[in-house]
Amino acid sequence: MLDSLEERIALQKRGSVLDEVLRTSGCPQPGKWENGIPRRRPMYPRAGTALAHNARSVIVRPPSSKDAREGMPLLHQVRTALRIIGRKAAAARLQRAHARHRAAHPALYAGNDAILARYRAGGGLSHVYQDYKLASLRALLQERRPRHILELGSGSTTAIFAEYVHATPGARLVSVDESEAYLKEAQSIAGIAEGDPRFRLECRERILVRDEAGQVVARRYAGSFADDYDLVFVDGPSGTDEQGVRHKLAPSADVVDIVLRQAPRTIVVDGKYATVELLQQRFGGLYDAYPSDLSGGTVRPGYRYLSYFHLRS
Ligand SMILES: C[S@@+](CC[C@H](N)C(=O)[O-])C[C@H]1O[C@@H](n2cnc3c(N)ncnc32)[C@H](O)[C@@H]1O
Repeated sequence: MLDSLEERIALQKRGSVLDEVLRTSGCPQPGKWENGIPRRRPMYPRAGTALAHNARSVIVRPPSSKDAREGMPLLHQVRTALRIIGRKAAAARLQRAHARHRAAHPALYAGNDAILARYRAGGGLSHVYQDYKLASLRALLQERRPRHILELGSGSTTAIFAEYVHATPGARLVSVDESEAYLKEAQSIAGIAEGDPRFRLECRERILVRDEAGQVVARRYAGSFADDYDLVFVDGPSGTDEQGVRHKLAPSADVVDIVLRQAPRTIVVDGKYATVELLQQRFGGLYDAYPSDLSGGTVRPGYRYLSYFHLRS
């Protein structure tokens, strides 16, 4: 295996890209963020690091990584440098947009710092959009005033839904996650009392749906969603398989079944552009779609982080 890896590294040093996933115990895993913005492709451990850990194979590694730059034609080096400058400028723009929005709408951010501190202390993802995402959700809840909310994927967002339910007579929340432990953590962060009839927290198994060739084509929770909801928030289940491979192109399928059964007035999708595209394709005639500005739009103060689908009246 090492021989073939060395061959691959040689290829890579000539600026080629490699394939397959780096799978080795103890080898540093790909980082997902750089300068506060997500990498288009993750940064993988350097080839030497992989070798030192007896890596069996290496995933696609863009020629912008340090190793790949060695021996790269000057034109490519210039392009790489420009890309890095572009990324830094985009990160700075994003930070400015968030800071301005927070300064202009303090009420939308009230309590966020405490929620996120608890969430991160419990191991929750720490990314640059989180504060803005929670504020965006608050704004949405104020605008749409749902009564029955379904959250797919519990966490920091559960606290925002709980805050709304606590303050809104008649409102209810069902929050679903594949992890019992994180569900409990979300319940605690959100201050949801045991036995409060306005809340139902459900732990459900995550299913990766595969085609005949074994490719993961969708992800969903076990069981069906039989209730009627007027707002569905899609942020789960996870698309990462047992080997740690992320199937980002596999959409979350539960929301399709939910719409076919009883179309909710509002659907919100966090990231998951495959899910957004699927909803647009399947239900374009039923919903007005407002995809996230991060899927190709412009990031400016007040930009759309989440993707929204509003049922046509
Ligand atoms: C993409 S995260 C986001 C969850 C949530 N909608 C949010 O935005 O905070 C998805 C997964 O992270 C896991 N998770 C939830 N709370 C967590 C915590 N405190 N620490 C680590 N992981 C957590 C859950 O299994 C959840 O399905």
